[in-house]
Amino acid sequence: MLNIVIFGPPGAGKGTQASLVAKKYNLRHLSSGDLLRLERENGELGDKIKKYQDSGQLVPDQLIIKLIKAAVLKKSSTAGIVFDGYPRNIKQASSLKKLFQEKREEIDVVINLKLSAEKAAQRILLRGQTSGRSDDNKKVILNRFRVYKSQTAPLLEYYQNQGKIVNIDGSLDVETVFNKIQSAITSLDTVNKKPHI
Ligand code: AP5
Ligand code: MG
Repeated sequence: MLNIVIFGPPGAGKGTQASLVAKKYNLRHLSSGDLLRLERENGELGDKIKKYQDSGQLVPDQLIIKLIKAAVLKKSSTAGIVFDGYPRNIKQASSLKKLFQEKREEIDVVINLKLSAEKAAQRILLRGQTSGRSDDNKKVILNRFRVYKSQTAPLLEYYQNQGKIVNIDGSLDVETVFNKIQSAITSLDTVNKKPHI
């Protein structure tokens, strides 16, 4: 099984790259933002989720942890999972670790897409012209970045300590970033295939 986390600030390209990775490696693409947006349309929790997403705050941990857990445990014929936008803080990361331990699996690699706040904001504002996303506007973007810095970026150290981080320059074009991700995954294979002594 291959389990990957695509990490990075808002607008870094997590969704774009996760979807390419999912297709290429036959993985399930689990986007916490998309899961929440879907739940917002259909689920009873809609109003609550809307309040958080519209202001750029993280939804409460127990809510997203429950949604992700159900999705991870769902039977699937894919070769693993690529996470996009999850985990977002240490609590979510340790819950994910436990969940995978129960499945006797683990997160193999965390791809950290690096992008400056300025470039990311430009991308998001451009997308906001057509996306219909209520958080793709100047005011909410600032808050999304604040939340990323204070609550999500500390996860980098958490995964760094586990030797799982691969840093990639997210400002390069989509194809170049994807090529770099593929190289990271390939070298992962090489490591995994080394004979056990
Ligand atoms: P979420 O949906 O995860 O949004 P985000 O992290 O703010 O990131 P985006 O989806 O805006 O950007 P992305 O990195 O996916 O980039 P993309 O590929 O789209 O979260 C939204 C909200 O949901 C949160 O604020 C929170 O309320 C809630 N939430 C989500 N997860 C949660 C969690 N785990 N816990 C609690 N709450 C949670 O690219 C951006 C744009 O740039 C696109 O237009 C794309 O076409 C373009 N682009 C992509 N790559 C490139 C490139 N290389 N060059 C040029 N343009 C590019
Ligand atoms: Mg996204």
